[in-house]
Amino acid sequence: MTDAVFYFTKLGTTGRIAKYIAESIGAELVDLGKEPYADPSKYDRVILGSGVYGGYPSKNVRDFMDRYEDEASGISLFLVCAFRDDRAAGQLEKISEDLGVADSIFFNRPKKMIGVEGSKLELYIESLKK
Ligand SMILES: Cc1cc2nc3c(=O)[nH]c(=O)nc-3n(C[C@H](O)[C@H](O)[C@H](O)COP(=O)(O)O)c2cc1C
Repeated sequence: MTDAVFYFTKLGTTGRIAKYIAESIGAELVDLGKEPYADPSKYDRVILGSGVYGGYPSKNVRDFMDRYEDEASGISLFLVCAFRDDRAAGQLEKISEDLGVADSIFFNRPKKMIGVEGSKLELYIESLKK
């Protein structure tokens, strides 16, 4: 099974987390910061990460999802954001709906969760390994 973690990062955190997830589950890492983007349909499973900027994922992520909208329902989306709790959950719901993604999660300050047993990030990675 070939998995890929596609990601866009502006400030670096999503990139760091995408790399960590990819290494943890043995997936390829695909940077959406520069074209051409790899075709997600060649992977068995796609995980997609983006920072949130002004309530939206990056334009690259939106363009990517527009181009490959048929793949959207099978994608697992993670957002890295500054909002917490209900505000972050509301933002996540709206973005997931806009992108057509059914499976999604947000992380607030995820670098602190790396290697921390039981953290939201580590639990997410465990769920991807199943
Ligand atoms: C211009 C700008 C706008 C942002 N807007 C939001 C926002 O609307 N909601 C949010 O939760 N976080 C927002 N943030 C925080 C980023 O989502 C957070 O810094 C995240 O780590 C960015 O991901 P990156 O480090 O991969 O670029 C914003 C950050 C910047 C720089």
